[in-house]
Amino acid sequence: MQMRPMKLGGDVLLFGENSLDYLKTMEGKKAFIVLSGDAIEKNGYLAKIVSLLEEAGMETMSYDKVEPDPTFDTVMEGTKLMLDFTPDWILGVGGGSAMDAAKAMWIFYEHPELKSMEDIIPPNVVPKLRKKARMLCIPTSSGTGSEVSRSIVISDSKTHIKYGVGDMEMMPDIVLLEPGITASMPKGFTAATGMDALTHAIEAYTSLRANEISDILAEKSIIEICKYLPLAYNEGDNLEYREKMLLYSCVSGMAFTNVSLGLVHGISHAVGGKFGVPHGLANAITLPYLIEFNMQDDVAKRKYEKLAEILGVPSLLGKIKELNKIMDIPETLQEVIKNDDEFEASLKELSILAKNDGCTKTNPIIPEIEQVEELYRKVYYGR
Ligand SMILES: [Fe+2]
Repeated sequence: MQMRPMKLGGDVLLFGENSLDYLKTMEGKKAFIVLSGDAIEKNGYLAKIVSLLEEAGMETMSYDKVEPDPTFDTVMEGTKLMLDFTPDWILGVGGGSAMDAAKAMWIFYEHPELKSMEDIIPPNVVPKLRKKARMLCIPTSSGTGSEVSRSIVISDSKTHIKYGVGDMEMMPDIVLLEPGITASMPKGFTAATGMDALTHAIEAYTSLRANEISDILAEKSIIEICKYLPLAYNEGDNLEYREKMLLYSCVSGMAFTNVSLGLVHGISHAVGGKFGVPHGLANAITLPYLIEFNMQDDVAKRKYEKLAEILGVPSLLGKIKELNKIMDIPETLQEVIKNDDEFEASLKELSILAKNDGCTKTNPIIPEIEQVEELYRKVYYGR
């Protein structure tokens, strides 16, 4: 199979303490900062970012209304402010939601003639960007990889259906990985976002599009995340642990944005949209069941065995279950959703959505709809 073109990031990627200092060297007039909530304001980092940008001679404006699953209405609200403010830099500062919303606002700011998500999903395409502004991302959690990804997920404001859009045009130009900014993440959030990063690396590793370069990135990410996630979970203010998590969630992002993911993400996207289960948590719960399922494929099985060997554990499945247990992640979706009737009533719809999800196309086994339904039951009931 011929390899697809890869892109590992934008122009500049910096990691480590004081990476934010890069901001004062930037050239530009106005920066629009997209945030999800006031956490970055409260921990003092917003003031720091603003003052560094001012040192660079830039005027700033911030928008902090992005919700955990950003909606199209929010994207349009931010776009409207951008059209008045006319920034030449857009900053996505936050987890995946803030960065995804910033990227989406960027598209509609550059092209105000576009009016809906349908205008940028197939058969339409994401138009050329960077005529008005460039994009800089500062992730504040270690999980999504959105800072080096070509993708966004935006929900319809009414139906809550999630639109995934991917195009290399959306790759952020500059990424600053400042470990201190992630230090105030609460335990549960560290666990869920960290398991999202681990799922990215594992699904990229067994993706039907995996190649040698993505394997190098994914394999190293899996090793380091398995080591540092429980440490960062237990000792959140240790900057060495935070830095490793921030770095390897970014590296796993580089892997998956190029070779895509698998059915864990297919299943969790649908269940997240329907029941509001946080993305990382849904992935963490789903991952063990899918490793078991994918073991039926010889290539995936060999890759899982290789990982277990490198990690020095009897099985990858056991290692994932152990991580979930250490971090108090439930074993089933039932413990989170707690509504069997509604789950049963939604099962057909969820299965169709997961089967048709873009990520499912690169799962080691392309499942029949009945298999997806059976997997949903396992992930929900644990049997
Ligand atoms: Fe994810």
